[in-house]
Amino acid sequence: MKIIEVEDYNALAKKASEMVIKRVSQSSSLTLGLATGSTPLGVYEHLREDFINNKTSYKSVKTFNLDEYVGLEKSNPNSYYYYMYKNLFDHIDIPSNQIHIPNGMAKDLEAECQRYEEQIDQVGGIDLQLLGIGVNGHIGFNEPGTSFDSITHVVKLAESTRIANSRFFHDLSEVPTHAITMGIASIMKSKEILLLAYGLKKAQILYDLMTKTIDERLPASILKRHPRVTIIADKKAMSIIK
Ligand code: F6R
Repeated sequence: MKIIEVEDYNALAKKASEMVIKRVSQSSSLTLGLATGSTPLGVYEHLREDFINNKTSYKSVKTFNLDEYVGLEKSNPNSYYYYMYKNLFDHIDIPSNQIHIPNGMAKDLEAECQRYEEQIDQVGGIDLQLLGIGVNGHIGFNEPGTSFDSITHVVKLAESTRIANSRFFHDLSEVPTHAITMGIASIMKSKEILLLAYGLKKAQILYDLMTKTIDERLPASILKRHPRVTIIADKKAMSIIK
């Protein structure tokens, strides 16, 4: 794993966006894996600005989001569908049929998971996957204990994750209990992975990631087996490592 330490969140967002823009510009058929949450917000802001200023085109880009809550309509501001359109897709020239987000409203959730995994395989896999990391080490919504062999599946969210994410909802009872997520094996199939972490809240888990062995109790630890992972972290997130 290559680690790039940057001064602060702004530098992180800029650096990550530059890497994404480079891959988009260099490829005629890039498949991007995307994340939601607080961490990539600044990255998406830079991509929007770059689209206005430099006209980087996403006409031939395909995207697959990591996860989606079960039971939230697309129009619900807390759905990841809503988040992605608001923060990125509404502002760039990507054709909507090239955007993939798990459907958390599907009647048959198992079939939806299978369909999603097949779609990823059909396009030849993800070229560049953006990841955040949960305070408990989750990637996507793969909570501690998830099998490293897992593919896209339905998960029951850990209480710590529901509490962490309740900041976006009116109260904890509104936070869905389940989600669809790409599995650990789905993520590991990506050709390149970019994991982003900022702030003191992520310092302990980054330290654990660097110092502990590969174990299903720390989902992100599997990334050490991937040949092409870059971590971009700010000084605060790196503060225990040093
Ligand atoms: C989001 C996702 C999650 C987040 C993680 C960190 O699509 O898959 O794993 O990346 O929970 O969230 P933030 O960035 O809000 O700290």
